[in-house]
Amino acid sequence: MKMELMSMEAGQYEGTQKIGLEQNTDELAIEILNLSKFFGKDKEIRAVDSLNLQVKKGEIFGFVGPNGAGKTTTMKMLIGLLEPDEGSGKVAGFDIVREVINIREQTGMLPEPAGFYDNLTARQNLRFYAKLYRIEAGTREKRIETLLETVGLAHAMDQKTGGFSTGMRKRFGLAQALINEPSVLFLDEPTSGIDPLGAQMMRDLIKDLNKNKGVTVFLSSHSMEEVEEICDRIAIIAKGRLLAMGPVEAIRDMVREKEGVKYLLEIQEIPLSKALEAIKGIKGIQALEIQGKILQVHAKVGQRTEIAKAIKEAGGTVSRFEEEEMNLQKLFLKVIEEK
Ligand SMILES: Nc1ncnc2c1ncn2[C@@H]1O[C@H](COP(=O)(O)OP(=O)(O)O)[C@@H](O)[C@H]1O
Ligand SMILES: [Mg+2]
Repeated sequence: MKMELMSMEAGQYEGTQKIGLEQNTDELAIEILNLSKFFGKDKEIRAVDSLNLQVKKGEIFGFVGPNGAGKTTTMKMLIGLLEPDEGSGKVAGFDIVREVINIREQTGMLPEPAGFYDNLTARQNLRFYAKLYRIEAGTREKRIETLLETVGLAHAMDQKTGGFSTGMRKRFGLAQALINEPSVLFLDEPTSGIDPLGAQMMRDLIKDLNKNKGVTVFLSSHSMEEVEEICDRIAIIAKGRLLAMGPVEAIRDMVREKEGVKYLLEIQEIPLSKALEAIKGIKGIQALEIQGKILQVHAKVGQRTEIAKAIKEAGGTVSRFEEEEMNLQKLFLKVIEEK
């Protein structure tokens, strides 16, 4: 698991990027090599800046970053809506510049914001997209109905999309993205602006599609919590640059290693102030604080035994020794702050 991790260590922070070139490219749904897009008169806005990443077939991959990080720009380049200034990429084995038509056939995209023909009904909208993909009339209607059922909109089939709520629009956008039965699905902020229940429904739909149909999913989000639940791996980007990539757990471990951990201790036999005195001299302890009955110790990973020993030597008994759970959103902010 750790092996997949590139990033915060050594090279990444210096700006060099390694990629796993040993990877069998047949197993990749998406590969990006030094991809860049610049905007502005003098190309001074580096919206996407030498991005490297690989997504395996069958993965749900989360692309996480704050607003303006370059998520949408990257996705647009991957489906041929924007031409890169530098670098290259492949989606479903096709070149993102030279083989855009093949990519369109193989992919679906839920854009943010999603635009439909709002005075057409859900069914009419999907018919329009089905025709663009030259889906035969015979299979078309059935597919439209099945898709609308899948996303929980069977009841709204003959309603105009203009009257849809945000949650309904997102789910309808998902149905539209699936009209050509894509092998790779791009979802730009699929749950932004929806209520928690609607967001959960969307996440469940994404998981089902991935599990039952084997669709590779590349989704963007500005919330770490959101991707934690459904993604196999994530990439964190800010200001167009890749900051970290790997399974959520591995990124968590990496931050623990770098930032240290916070232990929460309860101690019997001696006052907390005495315990504090006993461990304050230990090398690597960054901060100590007494909060009611708890002694908070900000230490390096792996200093547990050393701390317990010092307290024991001072005559204390540790009755509780916990590592504070790292909040993912905080972790995410930490990673991007350091850039
Ligand atoms: N068409 C454009 N013209 C000029 N600047 C743009 C354009 N599209 C995006 N940008 C800029 O590029 C950066 C990345 O934007 P975007 O990809 O939309 O980020 P995200 O989707 O992560 O919020 C931002 O600074 C944004 O203002
Ligand atoms: Mg965006």
